[in-house]
Amino acid sequence: MRNVSVVYATKTQHSRKLGEAIGKELNVKAKNISEYPGAEETGLIFLVGGIYGGKCNPELLSYAEKLNASLVKKVVLVTSSVSVSGRSQRDIREVLVKKGINVADEITCTGGFLFIKFTHPNRQDIQTVVNAAKDIFTKF
Ligand SMILES: Cc1cc2nc3c(=O)[nH]c(=O)nc-3n(C[C@H](O)[C@H](O)[C@H](O)COP(=O)(O)O)c2cc1C
Repeated sequence: MRNVSVVYATKTQHSRKLGEAIGKELNVKAKNISEYPGAEETGLIFLVGGIYGGKCNPELLSYAEKLNASLVKKVVLVTSSVSVSGRSQRDIREVLVKKGINVADEITCTGGFLFIKFTHPNRQDIQTVVNAAKDIFTKF
């Protein structure tokens, strides 16, 4: 079992940028769910996605549904959205908690949509997310 993995689902590429930046820092390939739909069993998984009409990405949700508590120790949700709040990916969190998987507090950042905050996530946002991910990984 590999120790850490980074998995993202994306509609406008923000989660890809965030996932790839985290992966680069942690020396793992960030995987796009549309290319790697099979759930990977890992000690620590960073699940990266956005919010659409108040809901998380359905692809990321179905990936979470395939995870198994005996082979995943901890999941970190990484969320970008226009309105940033502490816990946005509620559906995914609920699925994981029901399975008995430990879900760390979310790493969140601004992700613009059309003309609203369209310059985000910018380099600074991405670096802040990477730092938070590195911190969690170091303590894992
Ligand atoms: C169709 C659509 C609907 C969205 N709805 C919301 C929303 O309800 N709340 C919010 O905070 N952000 C919303 N956003 C903004 C996205 O969550 C944000 O841009 C995110 O960074 C997108 O990630 P992605 O590029 O990886 O798909 C929406 C974006 C799109 C494209």
